Amino acid sequence: MINKIKGTRDYYGLETLRIQEVFNKLEEVAGKYSLEKVITPTMEQTSLFDKGVGTTTDVVNKEMFTFKDRKDRSISLKPEGTASIVRMAIENKLLDNNQEQDLYYISQMFRYERPQKGRQREFYQFGVERFGKDDSYSDVETIMIALEIIKELNIDKYELQINTIGNSEDRKNYNQALKEFVESKIDELSDYAKEKYSTGNVMRIFDSKIESDLLALEGAPKISEYISEEAKARFEEIQNLLTKNGIQYVVNGNLVRGLDYYNDLVFEIVSTDIENLGSKSTIIGGGRYDSLVNTLDESKNSPAIGFAIGIERLMLAAKDYLEGNVESAIDYFVAVAYPEPEMKEVALEISKSLRLKGQKVKVDFSKRKLQKKYELAEKDNSTNIVIIGNEITEGKVTIKNLKNNTSEVKLIKEI
Ligand code: HAM
Repeated sequence: MINKIKGTRDYYGLETLRIQEVFNKLEEVAGKYSLEKVITPTMEQTSLFDKGVGTTTDVVNKEMFTFKDRKDRSISLKPEGTASIVRMAIENKLLDNNQEQDLYYISQMFRYERPQKGRQREFYQFGVERFGKDDSYSDVETIMIALEIIKELNIDKYELQINTIGNSEDRKNYNQALKEFVESKIDELSDYAKEKYSTGNVMRIFDSKIESDLLALEGAPKISEYISEEAKARFEEIQNLLTKNGIQYVVNGNLVRGLDYYNDLVFEIVSTDIENLGSKSTIIGGGRYDSLVNTLDESKNSPAIGFAIGIERLMLAAKDYLEGNVESAIDYFVAVAYPEPEMKEVALEISKSLRLKGQKVKVDFSKRKLQKKYELAEKDNSTNIVIIGNEITEGKVTIKNLKNNTSEVKLIKEI
C-alpha cells in the first residue's frame, strides 16, 4: 500500500462539502468587494521567491519544495501567493500606467514544515492582493475584507492584531539597535535564534516560538521606537479609522511577519480558540508591500497591500458553522423493488424527468433488498424515496416522503 505524502491530506465526504462551502463564502465576499479572480501556476522559478520573499526567511530558506527540472533549472512549488501574483501582474502589464488592480486567488501552497493541527506541507490559501492604492482607507478596507470572511463563518474567538514596521529607512535604524541588543543577550538565546541572528536579518529573531527566546527578547527595542513621524501618523490614521468603524484591534509591537516584503502596516487575525486550533494560531496574515513590485522589476512601481488566509485553519476556526450548516442531501432516491429490466427502464425515465425539474436524484438499480434501499436513502439524507414496483403495469409508482412519513401513489407520466 502506498500512502499519501506526509503533511498532505485527502478530502472526501462531508469534508469536501465543507471546504467547498468555505470556497463559496470566500468567492461571495470577494464578489462584494469587486475583487477579480486570478490563477497562477503551481510552480515558479526559485529565484522569484529568493528575490521577492527573501532568502533569510524561513519560508524560502528552509521550507520550499525546490527541485531541478530536466534542463537543470531550479523550480519551486509556490510557498505563498504574493510573489507569484506580483510576477503575473508585471509580466501581463496589469500595473502599467498606474492601473489599480484588486485581485484574489484560491490556491494550494507548499511548505516543508513540521505537520501538526492546522499546519500542513500542502495547504490552501485564499489571498487578496490590491495594487495602486496607497491610502490608509484602502488599508482599513482590506482589513474589512478579512473580517467579513471571519464574520460570514460565525467565527468569534479571534483577535485582530496590527503593527507598523515603518519604511525602509526606519527599519535600517531599528535593525542596528536590535542587533546591538541581541549581541548583549546572545548567550541566553537558542540555536534557532542565534541562526536567525547570523543570517543577517535580525528582525527574524521574533519568529522564534521558543519560550526562553521570548523571555530573553522581552526588553528588546521595539520597532515602534524607531518609526518615523510620517509612518507613525499613518498608523494613527489607520487606528482612528478602525475605531470609527467599530473594529476592535490590539497593537502588537512584536508583530513583524515572517516575510521580507512588508512596510508600514502589518496585521494578523489570530485565533483564540484553543480547543480547535491549539495555542494562538494565525488564521490570516497580511500587510502593505509597497516596494515588492520595484524589487521584482526595477522599471516599475506600485503601492500594494494584501493578506492571505490559511483555509484549513479557517475551517478549524469555523468548525461550529460548518458542522451546523453543511450537510449532504438528495431530493429523490429512486429504487427498483426488483432488478427487472422494465423497472430499471422506468427508474431511468423517472430520474431523468426529476433532474430536468432541477431535483437532486440518486438511482438504485441494484438487486439489494428493498429494506436495504430504504436504509441507504435515509443514510443519504434523502427527502423522498420512489419505489418502482409491480404498480408500473398500471403506469404508477409509490413516492414516500421520508421526512414526514407520508406516501402517495403517482402516475409515472405526472412525475
Ligand atoms: P503567511 O503568514 O506566510 O503570509 O501565510 C498566511 C496564512 O497561511 C497563515 O496565517 C496561515 O493561516 C496559512 N499557512 C501558512 N503556512 C501554513 C501551513 N504550513 N499549513 C497551513 N496553513 C498555513 C503569506 O503567505 C503572505 N503571502 C500573505 C500576504 C498576502 N501578504 C500580503 N499579501
